[in-house]
Amino acid sequence: MTDTTGTTPLENLSAERRAFPPSAEFAAQANAQAELYERARADREGFWAEQARSLLSWSTDFSEVLDWSGAPVARWFADGRLNACYNAVDRHVEAGRGDRVALLFEGEPGDTREITYAQLLEEVSRAAGALEALGLGTGDRVAIYLPLIPEAVVAMLACARIGAVHSVVFGGFSAEALRSRIDDAQATVVITADGGYRRGAPSALKPAVDEAVGPDDDGTPSPVQKVLVVRRTGQDVAWTEGRDVWWHEALEAAPAQHTPVDVEAEHPLFILYTSGTTGKPKGIFHTTGGYLTQTAYTHLNVFDLKPEQDVYWCTADIGWVTGHSYVVYGPLVNGATQVLYEGTPDTPHKGRWWEIVAKYGVTILYTAPTAIRTFMKWGEDVPGQFDLSSLRVLGSVGEPINPEAWMWYRRVIGADRTPIVDTWWQTETGAIMISPLPGVTAAKPGSAQVPLPGIVAEVVDEEAKPVPDGAGGYLVLSEPWPSMLRGIWGDEQRYKDTYWSRFPGIYFAGDGAKKDDDGDIWLLGRVDDVMNVSGHRLSTAEIESALVSHPMVAEAAVVGASDETTGQAVVAFVILRAEHLDKVDEAGEGADVAATLRKHVTKEIGPIAKPRTILVVNELPKTRSGKIMRRLLRDVAEHREVGDVTTLADSSVMALIAQGLEKPAASSD
Ligand code: WT7
Repeated sequence: MTDTTGTTPLENLSAERRAFPPSAEFAAQANAQAELYERARADREGFWAEQARSLLSWSTDFSEVLDWSGAPVARWFADGRLNACYNAVDRHVEAGRGDRVALLFEGEPGDTREITYAQLLEEVSRAAGALEALGLGTGDRVAIYLPLIPEAVVAMLACARIGAVHSVVFGGFSAEALRSRIDDAQATVVITADGGYRRGAPSALKPAVDEAVGPDDDGTPSPVQKVLVVRRTGQDVAWTEGRDVWWHEALEAAPAQHTPVDVEAEHPLFILYTSGTTGKPKGIFHTTGGYLTQTAYTHLNVFDLKPEQDVYWCTADIGWVTGHSYVVYGPLVNGATQVLYEGTPDTPHKGRWWEIVAKYGVTILYTAPTAIRTFMKWGEDVPGQFDLSSLRVLGSVGEPINPEAWMWYRRVIGADRTPIVDTWWQTETGAIMISPLPGVTAAKPGSAQVPLPGIVAEVVDEEAKPVPDGAGGYLVLSEPWPSMLRGIWGDEQRYKDTYWSRFPGIYFAGDGAKKDDDGDIWLLGRVDDVMNVSGHRLSTAEIESALVSHPMVAEAAVVGASDETTGQAVVAFVILRAEHLDKVDEAGEGADVAATLRKHVTKEIGPIAKPRTILVVNELPKTRSGKIMRRLLRDVAEHREVGDVTTLADSSVMALIAQGLEKPAASSD
């Protein structure tokens, strides 16, 4: 593990001095006011109990808020009982809001569906009945491998309705990845589709499932007994009689009414696999009462949701935790109306997202910095062609957002008017932990700033001591929170080792962070992405931020490559904005570009951060969830064979980058 503490280069990010307070009008109408912090500080457990009771409907009230006697496994609201699907659907219908639209679905080919809460209730009831008819019950695991279509939401809710545990596997993962997740969770049913639409054409899903549920290389049979298949594209599919069941036939055969199964607050709701530092993905598991409390609370307060008026859109796929917490559970528990879009941002044209915002009058948009930087690369004329005036809150998640992208998001998408909430959290935390409150916080471009009311976070040094304002260290969460993971499925020891051993008794998030002079938190990326150059520690995020702050650069990825003299050297891969591409010739060479950028980084951070090598590229290797795979770039930068690329969205990118590196745009002076 690399130390990120107390080094001068980290100063740079928080030297950002701009701050954007909410307008008086926004502040006056905001759900969350400043006193929320005081209320939570005065009585943290009482505060969470209040949230749990006001945001959720419990069939049995709880008597104890937090039981931490089994630390680090928390029990929240443990003797309370409830059902997640009832909270997300039934109760809105019972309260007379059945006609409110829950989902505004836009398929990639342009097909649309509007699903009200009443219609959603009938769908989830039938789906729950269908799952029970397949023999599923409380505690059983169900793998969900679907495109971003309404049935994905219905499938998750139907599992929750019968007390089964869903394990959603992103539709872009391979058969191999699906198999290992099915096996680890011992799922007995898979819900999938014939296919989905991607980049203007149908692509198949069912063949991957057929492969994943066949006997493995050793001949071991899969635990899967039944495969439920949604018909989405109508393409031909291979069919295994006795195992495969059409979703629509199973739902038609099931009754339109179904009584949700009451479960304990600590009943597992879902497992979601995420990559760790080792090869084997971790099955992060979440339970019901605490998870729903914090997802609903954060969704309401961080996005300032007004369920009767807002049209909310979170662009995440349900295959990721953002889709679980901010497409399915948070918004539906709050009775929101939301857009669900199946496709990619550039199909059939680069303005598709902005066309959707204009068409549905989206008011709250939640997306990732990587998307924002892609749009920057495409140029502001693209969103400029659409009416985005309905937008009133913008959110960001997934990685540190560099100030340049933040400012672009605010100016071009938010018309210099909308608050931006940069939300820090993880699959493990289940819900947002650190974020501005849009009606309270004067937002600083690039900083997630403050732990939410009810959350206790700190930046600490090697000895777990809080660092003073102005210094850097490790981000930790010092008190348990309702939506925290309850463990790694089937591996309690790994849970303790991974999160609770670096600083005994404290949750270590794996991120480096810094407190600025106001005590606001700036996330600096994973500590394993931190470089050490000549004994100075440099954050990849910080150098990337410096590069992207140059008008020529749309996106940048920085890695530390081993270097004989300096230990590590900074190698930067940059994508130029469309307007500047003519400065580079076809081989990716552009000595001027490299010299300019090295000078710029020197100016922004200091000579120590100056990249040794700058390579202009057209694409960066990203996982299907959009994270830059620095590991692969490090391989290229260190002239190694490029490692495992199976999780890359487009593996041909690596060959192109490696070719280009043979003729670097600039090497050391
Ligand atoms: C890691 C968690 C949270 C849902 C999506 C990612 C990074 C996330 C931010 C942010 C800086 C961020 C952290 C974290 N991260 N949001 N706003 N600012 N970094 O979930 O795949 O579990 O990744 O993403 O490094 O540890 P995940």
